[in-house]
Amino acid sequence: MATKLVTRDSSRTANNRAVHSTVFRKVLMSVTGLLFVVFLLMHMFGNLKLLIPNVGLQEFDEYSHFLRTFLYPMLPYRFFLTLFEILLVVALLIHMEAAIRLTFRDYDARMGMGRYLKQRYLAGSFAARTMIWSGVLIFLGVIYHILQFTTQTVTVGYDGTAEPHMRVILGFQELWMVLLYGFWVLLVSLHIYHGFYSAFCTLGARVGAFSAKVIKACSVIVCLLVFFGFMASPLAIYFGLVTA
Ligand code: HEM
Repeated sequence: MATKLVTRDSSRTANNRAVHSTVFRKVLMSVTGLLFVVFLLMHMFGNLKLLIPNVGLQEFDEYSHFLRTFLYPMLPYRFFLTLFEILLVVALLIHMEAAIRLTFRDYDARMGMGRYLKQRYLAGSFAARTMIWSGVLIFLGVIYHILQFTTQTVTVGYDGTAEPHMRVILGFQELWMVLLYGFWVLLVSLHIYHGFYSAFCTLGARVGAFSAKVIKACSVIVCLLVFFGFMASPLAIYFGLVTA
């Protein structure tokens, strides 16, 4: 009798632990994901400076310079940007670790669920079902993007080094670059579409049908804003509306 009680209690504790760690990981994913959305919106508005008539190119370079000299000389050159980059990398590691663990846990839980599994799979949206794969491709895209625009290890349309606005203008004169970035930004937007909604649900904002609709509407708006906001400059450059 005593043995039975111990077994039941310990199994309950294990269940509690599993539930809590899943919830905890979802909260971590939500908070880090929303941090990325804030970064992306700031980055997107910075990029839109390229479209300002006459002064856009100069403003774009000033904004790039400002990122490196913010709080300088009170703090060393690039100090703030480096801190921000470290924050983004730590957030990325937390986000990816949680995503991988949750995917494996979900996979284990679905094992042996038969027809129910298929029904649940079909019920999810395309963006929801492909989160892990869009996440992997977005990550690879970020590495390429940094190699191209930050370190200039990969250059398109020029050799050596170029000013920030020239890296973008010379790059997006190539059709394959517009298509590649179009695909990548589409993945980012779809990832945000599901992630934004899911994050607010995890954080307890969905308290009824109305709040669910508001969160859904906001996730559609952010998704469209990110897609068209990021693609506006590459398209304007490709079609000759922005030139050096
Ligand atoms: C077509 C759209 C985009 C363009 C034209 C663009 C352009 C740029 C440029 C020019 C830089 C270098 C800034 C500098 O060093 O002064 C940069 C950096 C960066 N971009 Fe983008 N970007 C785009 C989309 C994105 C997206 C969708 C993401 C994330 C998924 C992203 C993430 C980053 C990151 C992480 C950096 C490095 C920031 C740093 O140096 O600390 N970019 N981008």
